[in-house]
Amino acid sequence: MPPGSAGHDPRKARRVGIMKIGIIGAGNIGGNLTRRLTALGHDVSVANSRGPHTLTALAEETGATPVRAEEAARGAEVVVVTVPLKAVPDLPSGILDGAADGVAVIDTNNYYPQQRDGRIAAIEDEGRTESRWVEGHLGHPVIKAFNGTYAQDILDRPRPAGDPDRMALPVAGDDEAAKAKVRALIDELGFDTVDAGGIDESWRQQPDTPVYGLRAGVEGVTKALAEASPERPAAFRG
Ligand SMILES: NC(=O)c1ccc[n+]([C@@H]2O[C@H](COP(=O)([O-])OP(=O)(O)OC[C@H]3O[C@@H](n4cnc5c(N)ncnc54)[C@H](OP(=O)(O)O)[C@@H]3O)[C@@H](O)[C@H]2O)c1
Repeated sequence: MPPGSAGHDPRKARRVGIMKIGIIGAGNIGGNLTRRLTALGHDVSVANSRGPHTLTALAEETGATPVRAEEAARGAEVVVVTVPLKAVPDLPSGILDGAADGVAVIDTNNYYPQQRDGRIAAIEDEGRTESRWVEGHLGHPVIKAFNGTYAQDILDRPRPAGDPDRMALPVAGDDEAAKAKVRALIDELGFDTVDAGGIDESWRQQPDTPVYGLRAGVEGVTKALAEASPERPAAFRG
């Protein structure tokens, strides 16, 4: 059935080929991305901090393969890092070794110094964006996406392309090929995207910006990104 025809289910649309996808972090975001990406037919490996034996329920529900964090990126064309920000430095070194050439690494993470992560000087004093800090620890460029998306919306709000209620997500990154791959995947998941620039611009979608948690389409997201201020709000300083 061609896209756009009556009865076409966009959630099953195949705009990208079947991919091997590694998800590091199996909480709110990692769990729901595992659910949706397996439903689309992708080959998903998923890891948490406690080991694959603690992921049997998610594996049975979705068909994803539970693995150790060290194994999640093996052969993957897309890797999602979705852990509490303070846990990023604890990830095993070389965690992306063995990923496919040109792997796109999605960073969903946010800095919550007061509630969760503690103060990170490189972010606050050196003016580094949160994703720039993450990629320094991973030793690989990242694409910032989903960081302002409610986890439940990943399950509840996919819409067909062209639907007036289709949400748009901002996507930032320096590697244009990786960004294009991530935008195509998000489209397949049922959301539009807006190019939010490079990682040095990604403060525009960090916590407490106008776009953070915004449920809007391309126009609203574009406007919200333009209205962001680079100044870190007091509630997001440690
Ligand atoms: N919740 C949201 O709606 C939302 C929305 C957008 C962005 N975010 C951001 O996305 C990130 C993930 O959020 P979340 O709500 O999904 O977090 P979460 O529910 O707390 O889940 C975190 C996951 O990371 C795993 N983890 C922690 N340390 C690890 C390590 N060293 N190695 C491997 N896995 C590790 C945890 O493993 P265990 O299960 O074994 O503890 C858990 O599965 C955060 O940075 C958050 O700020 C969240």
